[in-house]
Amino acid sequence: MTEKTPKLRAALDGVPTYQPGKPAATGGPAGYKLSSNENPYPPLPGVLERAVEAAGSLNRYPDMACTGLMAELAERFEVPLSHLATGTGSVGVAQQLVQATSGPGDEVIFAWRSFEAYPIITQVSGATPVPVPLTEGDVHDLEAMLAAITGRTRLIFVCNPNNPTGTVVHRAELESFLDRVPSDVLVVLDEAYIEFIRDENVPNGIDLYRDRPNVCVLRTFSKAYGLAGLRVGFAIAHEPVAAALRKTAVPFGVSHVAQEAAIASLRSEKALKERVDALVEERARVAAALAAQGWTVPESQANFVWLRLGDRAADFAAACDAAGVAVRPFQGDGVRVTIGETEANDIVLRVAEEFRKQL
Ligand SMILES: Cc1ncc(COP(=O)(O)O)c(C=O)c1O
Repeated sequence: MTEKTPKLRAALDGVPTYQPGKPAATGGPAGYKLSSNENPYPPLPGVLERAVEAAGSLNRYPDMACTGLMAELAERFEVPLSHLATGTGSVGVAQQLVQATSGPGDEVIFAWRSFEAYPIITQVSGATPVPVPLTEGDVHDLEAMLAAITGRTRLIFVCNPNNPTGTVVHRAELESFLDRVPSDVLVVLDEAYIEFIRDENVPNGIDLYRDRPNVCVLRTFSKAYGLAGLRVGFAIAHEPVAAALRKTAVPFGVSHVAQEAAIASLRSEKALKERVDALVEERARVAAALAAQGWTVPESQANFVWLRLGDRAADFAAACDAAGVAVRPFQGDGVRVTIGETEANDIVLRVAEEFRKQL
């Protein structure tokens, strides 16, 4: 008799497991990790203390409604409490959005290449991913995304700035796009890196959501705020989208420690600004050095840069690894390098210079 194995949903066949960035490289004297778009700075002033204090009540379930954090966010962004929903990182909220809108037979549109989780969470819901290639300049092709809409489209992700290219879509083109998307299709503006934007023509999604019931803004504490390890993100959306997010949330998904650390982070605005400014300055330095070496690097408005290396992506990542820095290769496409510690960025620049000579 053959042993039967548990029946799993066919929708999962062929769905890749999400690949995290590699841990810090071990090849060099000090190991650096520039593979996950993390913040190289430790938690903002006051955050660790509040988190440690919160850890004293680990025997209790957290406040499921995230009352304190929600109140802080509502005031900060001038939005009603009923328009807010939190989750386990913004990827958790993104998954909830797909679950809330899309199932078998439905379609989810996103640019490609973009955030690796989009096709995965779409397929886990049983829906069909519709990737739309970026333009030659690695920017969202909003006209092609509009043309991809069918009667089955339920959700469209617009990643602004885009991971992994760092490119942005501007206010006029995004508004014109939103004006033409059918009102029963949800548009999710994924703004995980918004704090790093210095291009004044990029809109703040919150201004766009206010009079558009089909627009949802996705934000995270993982990047600029430096709380990647605590898993807290949130969405701003009109009812009934925000209400649906409360239904699809994993109960108690955001820990008490995460809630308290997020509140303390929001109150550390000055230090946040200083650190983000320093990373933006470092981004400009790295981009200029790469350009001087002869690389064509798309202008990044995020905390990473994109090297179009195609089939050499894995080789470049291996060279960085050997020099002590983990970066993020997407073989056949390119390599994403997070802006991190100055020494780590310098190592990547040295590797890039050598590598360029062999191309
Ligand atoms: C565009 C984008 N959205 C969302 C996320 C998810 O971040 P988190 O779940 O840590 O909030 C990431 C992380 O890399 C990202 O690049």
